[in-house]
Amino acid sequence: MKLTTLLSIAAAVCVATAAPAPKPSKKDPCAIVATAATSATADLPFDAVAACYRNIPYNAKVADDLLTTLRQMTNDYYVFEDSANGRYKAPFNTPRVNFDVELAKIRSTKWKNDYDFNMALSNLFSSANDGHLSYKSNCYMTASFSQPLALYAPVVKGKQSIRVFSVDTTNANAPKDNLVDCEVQTIDGQPAIKAIQDYTDKYSGISKDPGVRLNDALASTFWTDSTSWTTSGGGWMTRLDVPAKSSMEYTIKCAKGGVKKYKIPWRVRPSRRMNLHNFKDTPGYWRANCAAFEQPPNRVVDRNNRDDNEAPARTFFKERGTLPQPRGPRNGPSDAPPESPITLANEIITTTTTAFYRMKKGDACVAVIATESAGSQAEYWDFIDGLKRLRDSGCKKLIFDMTNNGGGSIDFATFVNALFFPKAKPYFDMDLRASSMAKQASKASLKFSPGMSIFDGRGYNSTRNGLAFKDDSMFTKSIRQTRNNKTNDYTQRSFFGYSWKMLPLAKNDSLPWKAKDMAIVTNGWCGSACTQIATRFATTQGVKTYSIGGIQNRPMSYYSFPGGFVYQHMYLVDEFSMVNMKGKNVPKSLPVQGIASYAMGQIYADGEKSVPLEYDTKHFAAKVKLDFDPATARHPDLVWQKIADDFKK
Ligand SMILES: *[C@@H]1O[C@H](CO)[C@@H](O)[C@H](O)[C@H]1NC(C)=O
Ligand SMILES: *[C@@H]1O[C@H](CO)[C@@H](O)[C@H](O)[C@H]1NC(C)=O
Ligand SMILES: *[C@@H]1O[C@H](CO)[C@@H](O)[C@H](O)[C@H]1NC(C)=O
Repeated sequence: MKLTTLLSIAAAVCVATAAPAPKPSKKDPCAIVATAATSATADLPFDAVAACYRNIPYNAKVADDLLTTLRQMTNDYYVFEDSANGRYKAPFNTPRVNFDVELAKIRSTKWKNDYDFNMALSNLFSSANDGHLSYKSNCYMTASFSQPLALYAPVVKGKQSIRVFSVDTTNANAPKDNLVDCEVQTIDGQPAIKAIQDYTDKYSGISKDPGVRLNDALASTFWTDSTSWTTSGGGWMTRLDVPAKSSMEYTIKCAKGGVKKYKIPWRVRPSRRMNLHNFKDTPGYWRANCAAFEQPPNRVVDRNNRDDNEAPARTFFKERGTLPQPRGPRNGPSDAPPESPITLANEIITTTTTAFYRMKKGDACVAVIATESAGSQAEYWDFIDGLKRLRDSGCKKLIFDMTNNGGGSIDFATFVNALFFPKAKPYFDMDLRASSMAKQASKASLKFSPGMSIFDGRGYNSTRNGLAFKDDSMFTKSIRQTRNNKTNDYTQRSFFGYSWKMLPLAKNDSLPWKAKDMAIVTNGWCGSACTQIATRFATTQGVKTYSIGGIQNRPMSYYSFPGGFVYQHMYLVDEFSMVNMKGKNVPKSLPVQGIASYAMGQIYADGEKSVPLEYDTKHFAAKVKLDFDPATARHPDLVWQKIADDFKK
């Protein structure tokens, strides 16, 4: 066993250092990948990975099971199945998606291989631009592709262009020239900004706003939960989907000198999704990385930690990783922590969710909320403590920076709303699909302890009287709604009950800030639970909102995919087994390894009115849209200072 491992390492070294374009070979491409994939940092040959994916034959039985499962998911549980079938006004720019029709088309198509079939499914789900919704097979996400150039789209002298944000010098394909802030004019023969927008419109899937999708493709500076400031390279430079060609061609113009051409190969490495050392050829690849496990792992649904049920947009954002950071101070010890990009503000305290700052000049403070993933009550206390310190330092204004915040616990979001606006309702009214299956599950759940099943009405409070439902009437006394030619049954309106020992704050210890003393800024990548703070502050209290980046001269949203709440398909399967339901319409596990996930609840900003917030265009745009420039893109404190100055106007 040991010996074979050693041999395959030796063989892999040869492959990895061989010429970049391997000669066509009759050899099984998955065998070539297997030989090269000696470790998580081994380089894989691009063409072999692409050919290995396409070497998986289309299997009619697996495809049929998969389509049936996904059709049930959209038909019976996905809460935006009907909304997605509509046409919406700017600043939305999202295609109309009819899941019924599109899944039927995919079913009736003759597919050359399993890869093409799966890509059609993934792209269909991604086209709805809902960060909670995704279908992706693990089979075609086992390699990670990266370019060394992190790009961004600042506005310089009144004109937006694509420029180099930084160069990842740990990537062996990085050009030796200093390209930082040089202008990227074309990529693969197209204007750079168009190439990136077209790509992200197809693959990002996080927002109905093309400006937010553009931000998602590009580099961004942000504070990550409880650690430090860092940079994400964005979805353009690091991807799991196979690029069209093995290298990318750029024309780049620096301040000095003319236009230069660069042809940079993709670096291809195993992603964390590759089951290393467990396959030797195509059939083995299928068994290790694609086919569903024969015995699905035992799962316990932890309802207090819905983080298990994370939005796929957030999962994929995290999987892209972050760029290596300059270590500081310059000329200091090499193990010093990364240099902070923040110089105009002093850090007061950091917690797992939030970094608290006080501006050096003036009377504004900043709460940088990176996540709503607060698993314990201690984190709620820490959040209050941070705010009290800002208050006690004399801050009269409070800015929330919620850039690259992928959500977390709805209870924490509700808590933040209640903390700042104790007199206002802290939640949005919500409903779920009340399909015939959901109704049956709701009835069946009454035999078990209250709230154990997600379909148990007793786990929700009614918006009518504020109290928990006592029976299955939330589901069974359903409300029929017609949207975009689709008629579905929905539950009674509800919300998740809460109780926090720490609220309300004592009168002599309350927070000083009113809505007019606050502002919110994001790059639009504020999803799920993040939106339940940002949009509640803005739509019900009139807190001023800023969005930054995106497309020049186009209004942009400060949030994406509010949904209601997200559910992974695998947990849906558990829900039915928990209440002992069986039969052909009960959701089955996916026949492949992968992610299927959807929004199960939807929320409404305007009470009884019928447009869910996810599709409510009138709330969408931020009050103020800012552009990035080379300085603000790297130093969020410059943006905070600008917003602090705006308070004085
Ligand atoms: C709704 O259905 C009617 C009748 O089938 C059809 O004529 C109309 O075009 C449909 N509208 C939309 C928005 O799909
Ligand atoms: C929710 O319902 C429970 C049980 O009826 C009740 O005790 C609680 O006060 C309600 N409200 C909230 C905000 O949780
Ligand atoms: C607020 O009042 C309570 C009792 O009325 C007292 O125990 C507490 O110390 C006071 N807190 C502050 C911050 O003054």
